[in-house]
Amino acid sequence: MKDIIEAIKRSSLKIRDIIEDGDTAKSDNQNSTGDTQLKLDIASDVVIENEFKQLDCIKQIVSEEQEHIVNINESGKYYIAYDPLDGSSLVDVNLSVGSIYGIYENDFTGSNIVASIYVVFGPRVEMVIADGETVKMYRLQKGEFNYIQDIKLNQKGKLQSPGSTQACWYPYHKDMIDNFFKDGYRLRYSGGMVPDLHQILLKGGGLFSYPSTSDLPKGKLRQLFEVFPFAFTYECAGGQAIDGISRVLEIETTHIHDTSPCFFGSNAECEVVKEVYSNNG
Ligand code: AHG
Ligand code: MN
Ligand code: MN
Repeated sequence: MKDIIEAIKRSSLKIRDIIEDGDTAKSDNQNSTGDTQLKLDIASDVVIENEFKQLDCIKQIVSEEQEHIVNINESGKYYIAYDPLDGSSLVDVNLSVGSIYGIYENDFTGSNIVASIYVVFGPRVEMVIADGETVKMYRLQKGEFNYIQDIKLNQKGKLQSPGSTQACWYPYHKDMIDNFFKDGYRLRYSGGMVPDLHQILLKGGGLFSYPSTSDLPKGKLRQLFEVFPFAFTYECAGGQAIDGISRVLEIETTHIHDTSPCFFGSNAECEVVKEVYSNNG
């Protein structure tokens, strides 16, 4: 695992340079989810693949930006799914973006995730590692990632990040979001799940939602690259990650690019979601 963390650190330094100097234009390609890839997405993906290819402990990798699994070492132990540059369309307006890594054993299944790592590229570069017991944050300072703090969610927070197209929300979902606002929750939504979820984690709690909608019944966020890694982080931090009713990490993945509705939050907010969705889903 140490080798994987070091490879992620090296990749992050290169990706930071790509963000600073790279071309934010679209490429001519689409990824498997149908998004037009930016040149930044592709360049970041190449960096990570080249780093991971050098590690014997990795059996397979799969990227949000590639259609297929890539075999690395037949006798490797780890399977890594990653989103090289989540929120890449925010780079040209200079908002924060991130990389997300889910580290699995045996196969790419939610119940087999053993660690997750994300890196936020904002005014600062920060890396957060969840290993099943703790969630630790490191900050890039003078070329080194230094330990800053452990992250623990409060039982209840004050922020909410309600994702997706509001015009396509189901009425019970809209009522639930409205009720959180009536209870005093403040809106925090940048359009990048890495900084949005990072903010909720660091400010003690709240709720990030990307629900099933009339246009996207299975949500938008991808299980292996986005939903499972953050689910693991939130659970390790003492919070929850659910599809409305059940833990997202119990979802069966039928295809590597499957998506799922998801809610990440502290316990009080997730209990409200479960109540609303059990009565309406
Ligand atoms: P990506 O840039 O990898 O395609 O993903 C962006 C994701 C996520 O970071 C964010 O929370 C969500 O898309 C925003 O979607 P909406 O604009 O539909 O809310
Ligand atoms: Mn993404
Ligand atoms: Mn992406």
